[in-house]
Amino acid sequence: MPKLLHLDSSPLYGISVSRELTAEFVAQWKRANPEGTIIDRDLCATAIPPVTAAWVAAAYSPEASRTEAQRQQLSLSDAFLQELQEADEWVIGVPMHNFGVPSVLKLWIDQFVRAGKAFAYVDGKPQGLFTGKKVTF
Ligand SMILES: Cc1cc2nc3c(=O)[nH]c(=O)nc-3n(C[C@H](O)[C@H](O)[C@H](O)COP(=O)(O)O)c2cc1C
Repeated sequence: MPKLLHLDSSPLYGISVSRELTAEFVAQWKRANPEGTIIDRDLCATAIPPVTAAWVAAAYSPEASRTEAQRQQLSLSDAFLQELQEADEWVIGVPMHNFGVPSVLKLWIDQFVRAGKAFAYVDGKPQGLFTGKKVTF
């Protein structure tokens, strides 16, 4: 059963152009994949903390030796990674904010980009670990 990750990052809800576009994408995807399921992730309705020194220490500690507090620290990151892995396809609404992406989108990226999970070093170069995904921005 195909799965779509539908992610929005505009704070403007009812008047947001990117939310209208992702909603239309989802509607078309549902028509093309009647058996498919959707994971909705609204970054403006998710409290995403910035990366801290404690977060970095937790992320770079071997899984087996993490404390309960460190596991808690990474729980949102783990949830984001799970959504990205589970979905075959991603649609990501990205407004331009001050010549960049909205800050909530950057917070989301910083949470899930972890060595060994989202990327690995191969011959000294970072290589993405999400393969075979179709992504629409
Ligand atoms: C806080 C903020 C910053 C913006 N910065 C830019 C910008 O740097 N360049 C630009 O072309 N448009 C900028 N815009 C306009 C938005 O990209 C445009 O309104 C877009 O439709 C926003 O997407 P949304 O409707 O899904 O929220 C900005 C809008 C907001 C609210």
